[in-house]
Amino acid sequence: MDIKYMLKKGWFFLNNKPIILKVDELDRLRICVPGWLDLGHLYSMDYAIKNLPSKDPILEIGTFAGLSTNVILYFLNKYNRTNKYYTTDWFLGDTPEDIKIALVKNPRDLITFLKESFVRNVNFFSPNSNIYSSDLPSEKFFEVWEKGQELDNLFGGKYKLQGPISFAYIDGNHQYDFAKKDFINVDKYLIKGGFILFDDSADYTNWGSKLVAQEVVKSGKYKLVFKNPHYLVEKL
Ligand SMILES: C[S@@+](CC[C@H](N)C(=O)[O-])C[C@H]1O[C@@H](n2cnc3c(N)ncnc32)[C@H](O)[C@@H]1O
Repeated sequence: MDIKYMLKKGWFFLNNKPIILKVDELDRLRICVPGWLDLGHLYSMDYAIKNLPSKDPILEIGTFAGLSTNVILYFLNKYNRTNKYYTTDWFLGDTPEDIKIALVKNPRDLITFLKESFVRNVNFFSPNSNIYSSDLPSEKFFEVWEKGQELDNLFGGKYKLQGPISFAYIDGNHQYDFAKKDFINVDKYLIKGGFILFDDSADYTNWGSKLVAQEVVKSGKYKLVFKNPHYLVEKL
């Protein structure tokens, strides 16, 4: 990690203290399920779900092993929300064939391992949830949505994506072009008053997802709810 980034981040936290929600029920989950959940997201997810504008589905792009998914499911349950929950992740589908991973014989097996871990982690920590999950890259996922095609649910059965949506958590590929495409696709389905939480969008980060979040606020079509420290925005 470079010094300039550390200084920028340090300065940011000196001047902006994120609100960290203490949720005892999520402490063990955070130990047992690997992931990249920023602690500030607990407050942002709680806020978005408490204030969901409708019963329309919510969406997560980039679940990894299901840490954030279980947190979102926890808050849905806390506020008695029955919204369907759509997710997609290609489970590190770009894993190279020649990468070394511990004693794993075929590195591409990691994709199946991660997918199975996701299903197991959600089934264990959030049983009987109203969740519909795909293993498609997000671009393909939205193509399937557009065409009204049927998908296999990783939790069993088949389903069709039905918009609009009321909240999206964008946490897939954080490079600008990918994060921008994810936003454009989400924006097509998001209702007025709906929320988007952009992962890795705090002003100190170097990710494209930050630039996308900043552009979204500048566009005047969304209002900034808060940065904790990552952008939570609401559609106007
Ligand atoms: C930072 S991790 C997500 C972390 C997760 N939300 C958590 O709480 O731990 C990013 C995930 O996005 C997925 N991903 C990256 N690019 C993607 C794409 N184009 N479409 C779908 N998933 C993608 C990766 O497979 C990875 O699991």
